[in-house]
Amino acid sequence: MLDRARPGRRLLRLCLGAAVAGSVPSGAAAAAGLALAAVGALAITVLAPTDTPWSSVGWYAAPVTIAVAVVAALAVALAARDAWNPQAPLILDAGCGVGWSTQRNAETWPDHFVLGVDQSLDRISRGKPLPMPANALLLRADLIDVWRLLAENGIRLARHYNLYPNPWPKIGHLARRWQGHAVFPVWRELGGELECRSNWRIYIEEMAQALTLLSGQTVVAEPWQTDDPMTPFEKKYLASGHQLWRCRASLP
Ligand SMILES: C[S@@+](CC[C@H](N)C(=O)[O-])C[C@H]1O[C@@H](n2cnc3c(N)ncnc32)[C@H](O)[C@@H]1O
Repeated sequence: MLDRARPGRRLLRLCLGAAVAGSVPSGAAAAAGLALAAVGALAITVLAPTDTPWSSVGWYAAPVTIAVAVVAALAVALAARDAWNPQAPLILDAGCGVGWSTQRNAETWPDHFVLGVDQSLDRISRGKPLPMPANALLLRADLIDVWRLLAENGIRLARHYNLYPNPWPKIGHLARRWQGHAVFPVWRELGGELECRSNWRIYIEEMAQALTLLSGQTVVAEPWQTDDPMTPFEKKYLASGHQLWRCRASLP
């Protein structure tokens, strides 16, 4: 039986355990991930109470299907890393948009594997200026799931980029900014060299304060300049003369 409260965790252990520990060949781990996605639909019949009318099964199916899909997709992504080089340190390009920065990081860190994650299928699928390098992969997923699943499975990051996250500028939006979000403490478990950039100074000042508390080190907001933009948003802001800001932290 699946754990009704946390089906994602149980499935992740089955699937990611193989991919991460390397106890089975990575191709088999990927196949296991896809097979788990396929059986997700069957799982709903186990999870739904026996007296549930079939018209209501969708209410049970949606979260299970999403959990299984995220777990399977992440397992496939990690299996791709293993197939390329199981020892490769992992870089997460969080909110990668169209993936320019994922490509750039893969070139800058040729011995690392770069995982670009974005929830927008449109952005992920858009044409790229260059083919995606062998040490990079784009994944459509919700970052909140990805961060939690990586941490729950003890996966550590070498580098962690958050480039031009959605600002959510209204007062009532504080909990939607990553530094005010419930998922934020998970970043410490993931570790690595973290960098966040924005054109909104307040966002980076808040982020620096939050990272100071999270890391126990003093993190500062600093002006950022470049003549070689790494993302479309960076290019757009530079073209319109915006001052850019960034903060960096080493998460042990
Ligand atoms: C302002 S855009 C920046 C994109 C890119 N980093 C750049 O600089 O061009 C923010 C991106 O974060 C993505 N995003 C926001 N919340 C997300 C979430 N919870 N999970 C995955 N992606 C998310 C959006 O889809 C969008 O592509």
